[in-house]
Amino acid sequence: MEINKIAVLGAGTMGMGIAWAVAGAGKEVVLYDIKQEIVDKTIARIGKGLAKAEEKGQAPAGAKDFVLGKITGTEKMEDLADVDFVIESVVENMDIKKQVYANLSKVLKPEVIVASNTSSLSVTEIAAVYPDPTKVVGMHFFNPAMVMALIEVIPAIQTSEETVETVMELSKALGKKPIKVKEGPGFVVNRILIPGMNEAAFILMEGLATVEDIDKAMKLGAGWPMGPFTLCDMVGIDIGLEVCNVLFRETGDPKYRPAGILKQYYRAGWLGRKTGRGFYDYSKK
Ligand code: 3HC
Repeated sequence: MEINKIAVLGAGTMGMGIAWAVAGAGKEVVLYDIKQEIVDKTIARIGKGLAKAEEKGQAPAGAKDFVLGKITGTEKMEDLADVDFVIESVVENMDIKKQVYANLSKVLKPEVIVASNTSSLSVTEIAAVYPDPTKVVGMHFFNPAMVMALIEVIPAIQTSEETVETVMELSKALGKKPIKVKEGPGFVVNRILIPGMNEAAFILMEGLATVEDIDKAMKLGAGWPMGPFTLCDMVGIDIGLEVCNVLFRETGDPKYRPAGILKQYYRAGWLGRKTGRGFYDYSKK
């Protein structure tokens, strides 16, 4: 089956970047979330981001109109009845995901693959609630999804080889570079990156250096494109903490225990850029 029309479920930070990336590659996108208002806001943010990218020469002239022309938004799951593929990027909560998959199975064409962008939950457990679990797979994008080239493709134990190959091919058609990864907590990137952010938080708690200097250290001393706290604020402290908790819980290895300051920031609602405050202040930007 040719894949032309793709549903992106969840209009949060990742859903936004994924919708942008998919539309940018010339596919039709239906962006879904539970409230039209959320979807509309996200589409407007894509437009703003593209206007800025065009201005800075990061996107070609006309990119904004091209991408926006490919995206429609909806709050009605029935509107997904004719899509050829689904990328699910709803909130990282297993109960909510299971509900979404159960509802999806009632509206989608039976041959449609449902790929989850989960960064911390078991794809196997998600697939178990879907009537045809061979069609469920992990497809993990990286923030900002319209820029980052990698996609981790993670088969659940039930996923068919055909599904995996289709997702590998689709990822390439989206202009991305996919790798296959077996299911395991954090897959590859988060297994390495999130403990790095966590370690930065421990260094801060020990008072060894300031937020700014720790960021500077990793940029200038290790060639990271952004320091660990800037990255943490971009990814979201809630997401970083959740991945850390999953690594800790699933492996039982104390080396993954989350730094106390991450828990405190999470409890304070200081989640990073999306809430205007994280390790840095974004309220005036
Ligand atoms: N098209 C559109 N927007 C672009 C762009 C492009 N080609 N390139 C950059 N931008 C945007 C950025 O998103 C940013 O947006 P903002 O103005 O709203 O802040 C802005 O332009 C600034 O970017 P710069 O011009 O400063 O571009 P840089 O050259 O600094 O690149 C970056 C930005 C690509 C984000 C780079 O800093 C980078 O690679 N950082 C590391 C990102 C990373 O590690 N991501 C993985 C996180 S882990 C994850 O996502 C997994 C999850 O499961 C937790």
